[in-house]
Amino acid sequence: MTCGSNPPWKTMLSLLLPAMLSVQTMALMEVYVPEQPVVALHGRDATLNCSFSVPTPFNLSDLSVFWQLTDTKRSVHAYWKGQDQLADQAERFANRTSLFPAQLGLGNTSLLLSGVVVADEGSYTCFVRVQDYGSAALLLQVAAPYSKPIVTLEPEFNLRPGDEVALTCVAYGGYPQADVIWQDASGRNLTDNITSSFVANEEGLFTMTSVLTVVLEPNSTYSCRLINPLLGEEGYASVTITGQNITFPPVALWVTVGLAVCLLVLLIALAAVCRRKIKESCEEARREAEEAKELEEEESKTAMTLLKS
Ligand SMILES: *[C@@H]1O[C@H](CO)[C@@H](O)[C@H](O)[C@H]1NC(C)=O
Ligand SMILES: *[C@@H]1O[C@H](CO)[C@@H](O)[C@H](O)[C@H]1NC(C)=O
Ligand SMILES: *[C@@H]1O[C@H](CO)[C@@H](O)[C@H](O)[C@H]1NC(C)=O
Ligand SMILES: *[C@@H]1O[C@H](CO)[C@@H](O)[C@H](O)[C@H]1NC(C)=O
Ligand SMILES: *[C@@H]1O[C@H](CO)[C@@H](O)[C@H](O)[C@H]1NC(C)=O
Ligand SMILES: *[C@@H]1O[C@H](CO)[C@@H](O)[C@H](O)[C@H]1NC(C)=O
Ligand SMILES: *[C@@H]1O[C@H](CO)[C@@H](O)[C@H](O)[C@H]1NC(C)=O
Repeated sequence: MTCGSNPPWKTMLSLLLPAMLSVQTMALMEVYVPEQPVVALHGRDATLNCSFSVPTPFNLSDLSVFWQLTDTKRSVHAYWKGQDQLADQAERFANRTSLFPAQLGLGNTSLLLSGVVVADEGSYTCFVRVQDYGSAALLLQVAAPYSKPIVTLEPEFNLRPGDEVALTCVAYGGYPQADVIWQDASGRNLTDNITSSFVANEEGLFTMTSVLTVVLEPNSTYSCRLINPLLGEEGYASVTITGQNITFPPVALWVTVGLAVCLLVLLIALAAVCRRKIKESCEEARREAEEAKELEEEESKTAMTLLKS
């Protein structure tokens, strides 16, 4: 055996190497997507950025773009042979997706997703091929602002210092689950004694109910703060229980007084009607009776004068 002869492994390598290199160059195209999750507002449109570096001017009919759900590989949007290919599109994306046709030649294969819903949250893969191909995945997060929180008190009236009251903070229509922070006037964290619940509606948006149980002190303020992990601090509501609140329940009192006045007026009116009716029916009888009475009185008077004298 001489050194000049070709061993079989070397022949194999000389055959394989170009193939391996070509696979490598095929996969080399860089596809860029945002590294940070893309936060989209519920109900709004979202642009899922995806771009690639254009090697040389290319013919659009050589471009293929596939947007897929990373987990299930369901098709979100596809494009090849110079046009959208939506036959395999997952039904929930129907009429909701588009590329930017004027941008495709510049290497911008971003996806416009309209009317974002909570169910759209997840990972999306952008796959691009011209001669080479490449892909990258991004994360879409959905956010919805909560309504302004409202704090209510239970029981509301006849409160005395030392009573245990439940303060309820409610906000709705938000996503994702928010952090709730209860504080008193001095900013003390009361988060120990709360129970919070989140109930999703059919759209996936949450109604947050947080209940704080406190032992009542006069002049106390309790506030409920809502912090959306994606949108930051969102809402704030507070209730102040003053000494006046505790000893004097204004609304309940006025309702009671009002009802009493109504009842009184009703009774007076009823009495007046009754009196008139009785008066009318008794008039004649009374006149006769009066005459008789007058006579009687006269008689008794005379009797009395008789007695006196
Ligand atoms: C998408 O790309 C454009 C241009 O590079 C940039 O201005 C924009 O902030 C990007 N949007 C997101 C959500 O990354
Ligand atoms: C792609 O084009 C759209 C529409 O002009 C633009 O909003 C988006 O920011 C572009 N994305 C990139 C990555 O350039
Ligand atoms: C792009 O490709 C199509 C089909 O292969 C061809 O008909 C067309 O002339 C090409 N356009 C350019 C500008 O090369
Ligand atoms: C999409 O739009 C077409 C034409 O406007 C309509 O026929 C079809 O029902 C729509 N599909 C959905 C799922 O809304
Ligand atoms: C929580 O409640 C307990 C008893 O109900 C009370 O002793 C404690 O002080 C409360 N904690 C806060 C932070 O209010
Ligand atoms: C309040 O207390 C709770 C539980 O002790 C804690 O998880 C939370 O981070 C605190 N928040 C602030 C703003 O101090
Ligand atoms: C409650 O607050 C009011 C007004 O801030 C003040 O006039 C009153 O003295 C306070 N009462 C108590 C018991 O602290």
